[in-house]
Amino acid sequence: MTPQIVYLNGKFLPIDEARVPVLDRGFIFGDGVYEVIPAYARQPFELDGHLERLEASMAGIGLTNPHSRAEWAKLVSEVIAKNEPQNQAVYLQVTRGVAPRDHPFPKGVAPTVFMMAGPLKPVPAEQIENGVAAVSLVDNRWLRCNLKTTSLLANVLLRQAAVEAGAAECVLFRDGFLTEGSASNIFLVKNGVIITPPKSNFILPGITYDVVIELARAHRLPLEIRQVSEAEVRDADELWLTSSTKEVLPISTLDGKPVGHGEQSGKPGPVAARMYQLYQDYKRTVMRAPANAQA
Ligand code: PDD
Repeated sequence: MTPQIVYLNGKFLPIDEARVPVLDRGFIFGDGVYEVIPAYARQPFELDGHLERLEASMAGIGLTNPHSRAEWAKLVSEVIAKNEPQNQAVYLQVTRGVAPRDHPFPKGVAPTVFMMAGPLKPVPAEQIENGVAAVSLVDNRWLRCNLKTTSLLANVLLRQAAVEAGAAECVLFRDGFLTEGSASNIFLVKNGVIITPPKSNFILPGITYDVVIELARAHRLPLEIRQVSEAEVRDADELWLTSSTKEVLPISTLDGKPVGHGEQSGKPGPVAARMYQLYQDYKRTVMRAPANAQA
């Protein structure tokens, strides 16, 4: 196996040789932003959307963007090209750089830019077929969840609580309204209508969320983007989570109770299956990849 090649501040090198000084503000303060970009058949998926969100995250924390859109795109392509797997997850992080520890922004310090591309693990077929368990938790994160920052302690603690409860993800509520998951957006279906909360400072504007909404519109599936109460989530016919690495994944139980009603209860529903298929078809179309390249 050839070693995983990463990018750090202008150089490509084996991951074991990549080093960041301990005074990097990413290490000291979690002072940085990141992206996770899937690549199928060695082509980045929805790259412009991810780079646009990266730019918004940097602007949102007052971090000077060290690269043009074209330079970012080139670096992402290069890191994919230097690694073997057909399908990869590109992790890209920019921190406010290395400086003596002090809270205000340091002056004249170059940001640290790091990128790694590892194999994109396919979602197990069993999970797509049967769905995953989720638990509800109070969203106790900060009020700027629209920024994709590396300060993920709250998300880490929420996900750990979900895992300790035997679940794959949590469904978060703030003041009685649905926000998102610890690393995913949440959709529900009621009487055939796909429903999801609007973009705001309470959720990350997911790239998969955007694709799912576009697909629903393009295929004239009933869609409502609006605030969703906790009661509506608990009474949903279907619940799904979406993210770049999990794509469209049904949630089959919430707090140990089956999602849905009647015969469909506890099983992924028909709208999830339809959206999953539309998503796979869309991926194949935009990537111009052979049908089996997603496996
Ligand atoms: N997480 N909400 C949160 C809090 C997330 O961290 C993510 C993604 C999403 C979905 O966004 P997208 O569809 O653009 O992947 C929503 C990534 C995958 C991660 O942190 O690993």
